[in-house]
Amino acid sequence: MRTTAAQRRHFTRRLLTWFARAARDLPWRRTRDPYRVLVSEVMLQQTQVSRVREYYPRFLERFPDLRSLARAKPRAVREAWDGLGYYARARNLHQLAKRVAGRGVTDKGVAGDSVAELPEDPEELIKLPGIGRYTAGAVASFAYEKPVPAVDTNVARVLSRVFFGNSRQRLSGNRQRRIWSLAAALIPKDGKRAWKFNQALMELGALVCVARKPKCAQCPVRPDCKTGRAP
Ligand code: ADE
Repeated sequence: MRTTAAQRRHFTRRLLTWFARAARDLPWRRTRDPYRVLVSEVMLQQTQVSRVREYYPRFLERFPDLRSLARAKPRAVREAWDGLGYYARARNLHQLAKRVAGRGVTDKGVAGDSVAELPEDPEELIKLPGIGRYTAGAVASFAYEKPVPAVDTNVARVLSRVFFGNSRQRLSGNRQRRIWSLAAALIPKDGKRAWKFNQALMELGALVCVARKPKCAQCPVRPDCKTGRAP
């Protein structure tokens, strides 16, 4: 399905207006620190927001930056992750920290312990351990305010319902590609607005356009939605 520029504009406007009013105050929305954003996104991959809210500050207290994580013993990392599950995520995060912060020389050619930075470009981020297309987009957008899409399962469900009129949970490879290119067409060019847009899509998927029993009566983009549930 092709969408028109006007359809996309209406959708984005309604979505952002709603987000300004309805957004939850989540700790990872208060930072642009790339490491902190990354930790939140890795935690959120398979874990509920309420649980991540508990673990996130504790983990950051123990490992406040990439360097401290790079230096940590695997056991200490595992302990800090204990209870969150899917430990491969913690192992990958640890490997990533060692790769980025443990190498002594940074991208800027500075030796030693001054700078340890995550790349800004999703194409570079995706090369790091445990970072897939979604997380690469999320870090680029939420930390660096790059106008790039970040499509996770929730976002795919929202876009699929609104623009394609269906909500199959498992998307074919072809449908995935179409959703990513739709998200790329929708994303505002201004980085700050793109940040809000990506957060807002996630928020809509979490609070209103939920997998089972979506709350269409409360939906801010209902006039734009192809699913077309009767009021
Ligand atoms: N799930 C993944 N990323 C998220 C974010 N930034 N806010 C809320 N839920 C999320």
